[in-house]
Amino acid sequence: MLPTIAWQDSDIVMIDQRKLPGAEVYVTCRSVNDVAKAIKTMIIRGAPAIGVCAAMGLALGAQRSKATGTKQFTTEFQRNSDLLAATRPTAVNLFWAIERMKQSFADGALAGESVEQLKARLRLEADRIHDDDVASCRAIGALGATLVPAEACILTHCNAGALATAGYGTALGVIRGAVEAGRKVRVLADETRPFLQGARLTAWELVKDGIDTTVITDNMAGAIMRAGDIDLVVVGADRIAANGDTANKIGTYTVAVLAKEHGIPFYVAAPWSTIDLATPDGDAIPIEERAAREVTHVGSVQLAPEGAHVRNPSFDVTPSKYITAIITERGIVQPPFLENLRA
Ligand code: MRU
Repeated sequence: MLPTIAWQDSDIVMIDQRKLPGAEVYVTCRSVNDVAKAIKTMIIRGAPAIGVCAAMGLALGAQRSKATGTKQFTTEFQRNSDLLAATRPTAVNLFWAIERMKQSFADGALAGESVEQLKARLRLEADRIHDDDVASCRAIGALGATLVPAEACILTHCNAGALATAGYGTALGVIRGAVEAGRKVRVLADETRPFLQGARLTAWELVKDGIDTTVITDNMAGAIMRAGDIDLVVVGADRIAANGDTANKIGTYTVAVLAKEHGIPFYVAAPWSTIDLATPDGDAIPIEERAAREVTHVGSVQLAPEGAHVRNPSFDVTPSKYITAIITERGIVQPPFLENLRA
């Protein structure tokens, strides 16, 4: 399994996802500022991985603190939480993980723990969040595999793999689970403009695993569906609202509409930390708008002329009516999602 993020002594080490597949370079974060920068600049990305990284960042920040009293320690912890919460707005796992760390901190403070005890508790909680995420992905993979026919061509969008989680992946977890269960699987990976998570990261992971993978440009999916060569679609999610509306990488909505038109099942695979019952529907999900340069350039090569306006919404919302089922570690949730997610 790929080492997405790990402790190295008291530092955090992560593979630089901006450089893949050309170079396997590891980045060391020694401060909360380093961690916030890593999330913002997408050295690490993918909703569950962002959450795990933020939790580890808070533990790292606590470890580095020179505070001797709990008052100053608490102020620093709050400041670090705010810094990390401001990195990326759409992936709810970020806010979920920070809340979980805050809750652990509050429990310790209430019990009158010392600064040293609070530091140890935060490290333990971050490690639990990391390990729980891997366990959730494995459960999602095993459950999702039951939805995959004996022979299947599966389309996926963006990268919801080991790199996007603490390990194994959600959408790619389903693919890995299906392969482990003996299904004969071929994967079509949308290249996923503009950051190319599909062409660069999904293809890299799956090829490393020896899984039959074909990269297509995003605008090819419709024609290939029409030709009858896609059996199902599985994607990850950044936030799933109470009614099942799902924010995921820009272009997911287009794939979902195409899948419905062609009668192809469209599955969303995500851990429970991605489900946001406090957000009623997709209209209430904040959508990150990223830098124009991601669209105008590929690497250092400029594609679009100076002076052209650029839009770069990083995510879109797929209304729940296009979703066949949501695969979580707690079970496969079928429509109607409003009732069944709550249940
Ligand atoms: O901008 P990114 O690369 O962080 O977006 C990632 C996605 O959209 C993933 O599909 C989603 O976070 C799920 S990852 C298991």
